[in-house]
Amino acid sequence: MKYEVVGGIPLRGVVKVSGAKNSALKLMAASLLAETPCTIRNVPDITDVRTMVGVLTALGARVETPSAGTLRIDPAGLSGWEPPEHLVREMRASIQVMGPLLARFGRVRVRQPGGCDIGPRPIDLHLKGFRALGADIVEDRGFIMAVAPKLYGAEIHLDFPSVGATENIMMAASLADGTTIIRNAAREPEIVDQQNFLNRLGAMIRGAGTDTIRIVGRKALSGTEYSVLPDRVETGTFMVAIAITGGDAWIENCIPEHVQAVIAKLREAGVKITEEDSRIRVTSGGRPGAVSVRTLPYPGFPTDMHPQISALLSIARGTSVITENIFPNRFRYVEELRRMGADIRLEGRVAVIEGKERLFATDVDAPDLRGGAALVLAGLAADGVTKVGNIWHIERGYENMAGKLASLGARITRLA
Ligand code: UD1
Repeated sequence: MKYEVVGGIPLRGVVKVSGAKNSALKLMAASLLAETPCTIRNVPDITDVRTMVGVLTALGARVETPSAGTLRIDPAGLSGWEPPEHLVREMRASIQVMGPLLARFGRVRVRQPGGCDIGPRPIDLHLKGFRALGADIVEDRGFIMAVAPKLYGAEIHLDFPSVGATENIMMAASLADGTTIIRNAAREPEIVDQQNFLNRLGAMIRGAGTDTIRIVGRKALSGTEYSVLPDRVETGTFMVAIAITGGDAWIENCIPEHVQAVIAKLREAGVKITEEDSRIRVTSGGRPGAVSVRTLPYPGFPTDMHPQISALLSIARGTSVITENIFPNRFRYVEELRRMGADIRLEGRVAVIEGKERLFATDVDAPDLRGGAALVLAGLAADGVTKVGNIWHIERGYENMAGKLASLGARITRLA
């Protein structure tokens, strides 16, 4: 599968943002904590969601799609405590079922997870949290087994504000005996979404969005209805798409507050941004100015927007510097962008980008999810027709990217 992208057309019009991949996957996992069915709305139609449906189904849950974008998850038949190895290998977010399974069954066994190859992604902080809640953990030949007949509330200080660890611990602690306090917790909006969802199931959680989260464990949780928050990475990706083409367009169904770090950088680069309640207008007057970007945990600049902003800065006036502080292997898109004429020098975790007047179309391959998105954006700005291969990476996390860009006037076709 490839995208064929004709460059040089300024994007105009209106595009709608889908539900957040990084929240939907976690809410799906969290629904295993309930004893009755959950209905989750605004779920994006992406491969990662289908993989998570596979994980839940394999564990014995029943998953139905009553209408587009809605999932009904019935955990009544839940019996498994070992998510299928091949799915865990395919998608790292599968390990988010660890917390719920440990809490419901007192044991869970998983393969060391896979996902995008963007650097070593250990799960030591997840395991540290489970241990603090009373679990015994055994790591054996690529598998991890956690056992805890009962979980007890505990104080947990994370060495790093890991998103996945914060969520996994929140889920397990929701059914623990007593109160859990997570310090140095991740503050991403998806954590707040998970708190809100869990509280709707009957959990008692406060503090998500700050660095200290308090969870009072409950005996049982029951199903609810909930709508996933808008995807801030998709929002940011469209912002850059409009900017890189010198376009003028609106992004709707988004939460401007969640993309402030991206807005600040785009403004610094000379892009005009207008914010309203749930929509953002991006107006670009041509080549951006050079800026420096450092990726950081939220509310810092998101690592998930690093490759896309690099694509934009590769046509900026002047020299930009990007420092990647979260995932060291985020730079796999660099080689492909270079093939399109970008001038990017790598020094460890730092990319130095000498802006060029234009990029040139060629055949490139998506190296991972966000790197793939960056190549599509580069193609929108390049002279000629770019073919982006391996788009299965992109389709893991973006709903109908080609269709949405086409609705803004881009000439982009999905080729089998
Ligand atoms: C989530 C997002 C991903 C995003 C990332 C950072 C999902 C499905 N994925 O990934 O898109 O890029 O947050 O915003 O939500 N770490 C450890 N030990 C651990 C866990 C993490 O050392 O046990 C390290 C990681 O190697 C990395 C850093 O902590 O360097 C951040 O990882 P984390 O916040 O956990 O990211 P994910 O939850 O995997």
